[in-house]
Amino acid sequence: MYRAPRGTTDILPGEQAYWRYIEQKAAGICQLYGYERIDAPTFEDTDLFTRSVGEETDIVTKEMYTFEDKGGNQLTLRPEGTAPVCRAYLEHGLHNQPQPVKLYYMASIFRYERPQAGRYREHHQFGYEAIGDADPALDAEVIEMAWRFFTSLGLRQLTLELNSIGCKKCRPRYLAAIKDHYTSHRRELCPDCKIRLQRNPLRLLDCKNPSCQGVADSAPRSTDYLCPECEEHFSRLKGYLKLPFTINHRLVRGLDYYTRTVFEIQPEEGGAQSTIGGGGRYDDLIEELGGKPTPAVGFASGLERIILNLKKQNVPIPPLPKPRVFIAHIGDEARDEAIKLASRLRQTGIGVIEATGKKSLKAQLRQANTLGARHAVIIGEDEIRTGTVILRDMTGAEQNVIASSQLEAELREGSL
Ligand code: HAM
Repeated sequence: MYRAPRGTTDILPGEQAYWRYIEQKAAGICQLYGYERIDAPTFEDTDLFTRSVGEETDIVTKEMYTFEDKGGNQLTLRPEGTAPVCRAYLEHGLHNQPQPVKLYYMASIFRYERPQAGRYREHHQFGYEAIGDADPALDAEVIEMAWRFFTSLGLRQLTLELNSIGCKKCRPRYLAAIKDHYTSHRRELCPDCKIRLQRNPLRLLDCKNPSCQGVADSAPRSTDYLCPECEEHFSRLKGYLKLPFTINHRLVRGLDYYTRTVFEIQPEEGGAQSTIGGGGRYDDLIEELGGKPTPAVGFASGLERIILNLKKQNVPIPPLPKPRVFIAHIGDEARDEAIKLASRLRQTGIGVIEATGKKSLKAQLRQANTLGARHAVIIGEDEIRTGTVILRDMTGAEQNVIASSQLEAELREGSL
């Protein structure tokens, strides 16, 4: 028997209400803040991700689904959504539009990670990017929008963590301090951190290995090393934010493109895989990809993690609309009539499910019940002869004989 590949899931019909609910709320929030949808391809040139996410990150070194196609091109299934949006921004000359350009996406994301609850090899993100403005008010807006999105879904008890990791100018001094600190604790570090210490010291703070926690906790803080411009940016952002937040000095995020603001939103019951969304500013990325210096800020959230939390918090989800009329029939002639009737009702916009095969009336009504139909229309020989149908209310099991020509009107009155 075939199974879905490890770390992937089928989204069965019973789960779809969650997905539609989140997508609808996301689109609503984006409209409220003036973000327009963009859809980029599922795969891109590998180099796009290596350059943007960073060669020494876990994503690039361990997690990318990279392959060579039959034309010899090196391609990668997108492991995140920001770099493709920036590539599209440059490719289509969106820098010529009024800035900031505000874009959002819903996309499947691929990372070869060790699967567990809330961590998959294919997951789905809702993300958005505001490109072309350095104003800290925009950072505050991006964060507020994420918060509003989660609360509009009905999620409660969230915490917002914030940090500033400086810019090209002030980061080197901070990295040197981190390096000194970790070098003096070298013996306590996990093998990965020993490599990070040489190649990408900022990633040290991100390590989840228990042996490295103490060293990370006592490490120098990026906010103590900010240049005056970054310092001012951070302090203005904090002033604009009208939400409760905590400063997390170890928050650096797992991607290399961030500058200044970084933030994450966590549900109350924490844990390694709990972050439901995160983002930050990436003022150098567009330039790194070949554009003019263009500041930008964005956010993304994993839909699977949102659903996990909606379930944990018992948030009621509106059910998806279903056809509310079921047509049952007895005998071959009635069956032909049922097919015609179903077509007639659908033409007027009334959703219908028709019984198929040759089941007994009892079995057909049982099926109507299981499908959640509100009305059953029953047709037999007598009804065909008299031009009538039996209309049965499936909730109260009350039924009436009515003229077939009256059916649409009756069903509409029943507010279908
Ligand atoms: P990220 O933190 O790597 O950021 O991913 C965003 C969110 O995706 C996470 O907070 C989490 O909810 C979800 N997520 C990540 N990995 C998995 C996984 N393996 N399984 C399930 N859910 C997962 C980014 O990707 C950045 N592009 C966000 C951003 C946008 N920054 C600026 N703009």
